Amino acid sequence: MSDQGKPENINAVQSTTGAGAPAPSDRNSLTIGADGPILLHDVHFLEQMAHFNREKVPERQPHAKGAGAFGLFETTEDVSAYTRAALFQKGATTEMLARFSTVAGEMGSPDTWRDVRGFSLKFYTAEGNYDLVGNNTPIFFVRDPMKFPHFIRSQKRLADSGLRDNHMQWDFWTNNPESAHQVTYLMGARGLPRTWRNMNGYGSHTYMWVNAAGERFWVKYHFHTEQGMAFFTNAEAAAMAGADADFHRRDLFDAIARGDHPSWILSVQIMPYEDARTYRINPFDLTKTWPHADYPLVRVGRMVLNRNPENFFAQIEQAAFSPGNTVPGIGLSPDKMLLGRAFAYNDAQRNRIGTNFHQLPVNQPKVPVNSYMFDGQMAYHHSGSAPTYAPNSVGRPWADATGPVPEGWEADGAMVRSAYTLRADDDDFTQPGTLVREVMDDAQRAALVETVAGSLLGGVREPVLSRAFDYWKSIDPETGRRIEQKVRGGVATKPAEGMGEG
Ligand code: HEM
Repeated sequence: MSDQGKPENINAVQSTTGAGAPAPSDRNSLTIGADGPILLHDVHFLEQMAHFNREKVPERQPHAKGAGAFGLFETTEDVSAYTRAALFQKGATTEMLARFSTVAGEMGSPDTWRDVRGFSLKFYTAEGNYDLVGNNTPIFFVRDPMKFPHFIRSQKRLADSGLRDNHMQWDFWTNNPESAHQVTYLMGARGLPRTWRNMNGYGSHTYMWVNAAGERFWVKYHFHTEQGMAFFTNAEAAAMAGADADFHRRDLFDAIARGDHPSWILSVQIMPYEDARTYRINPFDLTKTWPHADYPLVRVGRMVLNRNPENFFAQIEQAAFSPGNTVPGIGLSPDKMLLGRAFAYNDAQRNRIGTNFHQLPVNQPKVPVNSYMFDGQMAYHHSGSAPTYAPNSVGRPWADATGPVPEGWEADGAMVRSAYTLRADDDDFTQPGTLVREVMDDAQRAALVETVAGSLLGGVREPVLSRAFDYWKSIDPETGRRIEQKVRGGVATKPAEGMGEG
């Protein structure tokens, strides 16, 4: 993608004011004598000062610290039986942007603090932009978007001291037992990926795919790293947080600069539409995975990141991803979290970047846009003298879908405020228990006990502490007992600053 915002050769253009007139001096302000006062008519100086005061935009709330790169996605397999999306037709190659991030830390926070990692993708498809805004874990802490702001605030900073606080984090988690699965992932190796290149990415939510015949399927996305998974230990991550707070950002940029282009294989789990009605696990509950034995991975294609940003602010900081950006052949699902997110992101970006954030080069689709969104701050692309209303009688196209919209059993019921209906195998502790007992080996279980105990020793008080022991005993009795023993015996190593934090 060419960066339409930059002159062809900036070095060939003399320094100017914002209005393009030659800049008088970028070194010396205009004064009465060398030691005298500055003159108000040094307009160039005033402009530089004023713009400097405005050169930051609010950081993302959450996922402030991150970086990214451009690349290509190629669909290598025929999945047309499941989706008609142009980007997922065999042989299609689509330009894309990826951004990786931590969740809770601010813009300058260390890349290697224990946290979930964001895995945001924007595909510039032939049918408009498709965004998949996931994480490096296949599940999440809560299953109702009403809880999301509370969750994020509990992971950030105390109201009085402005400090991160393990007590607050565990207070939230233990009061919301549906967090157990994600917390188990977070306290395990995935909480400390060695580099962004060494982690998997997941769409996490259940999405809908629709094929050319209109048949619907539920899908979950898995991006498996071709670099192999690799992790830091607590000690390595703590040392790196001090030595190089930007380690992950640097690693990605340097790898791409030297031609070592990281890649991921995309596979999906596909659930037939009707299965979701009776499957033993609620397939729209974001705290659950679908066992691969029931829904095996189906390979789709490969993503390669091969081009660094030329300008971090213009192309990464101003990048705007939204789970609401879908294309024909791909839809949302009744996952409440996903529906909450479909609203939240573009709203955040109108505030963070500006009303017309979608007109910036990094966010612009590669297809012609004919939107009735009109004017607003910093409007750049416009519709000339075309009518600003629809329907109109002078030929500007407008959309007019009518007729039946496919009916779905998933949206058939009375209005309620309620938790999901529980299915046979829906409980908060079975899947994290399986993760601890069957996926982790002895060494990983020992590291888990060490990490959790270290986090609890980092200032967690009663009654949260006892609740945390019960929480872990519900996940796995033996692991819970070992954690309690370490904490009560005080033998776990106290974590370094930032460790064990969500
Ligand atoms: C109801 C739940 C959620 C809400 C309301 C929410 C809201 C937000 C907001 C407002 C941002 C900042 C967007 C911006 O300023 O550009 C953000 C960023 C992000 N969120 Fe969420 N989020 C939710 C759940 C999730 C979940 C479940 C995931 C992953 C599965 C996730 C992954 C991300 C990522 C990766 C980013 C960074 C996007 C980027 O790279 O620019 N979020 N979220």
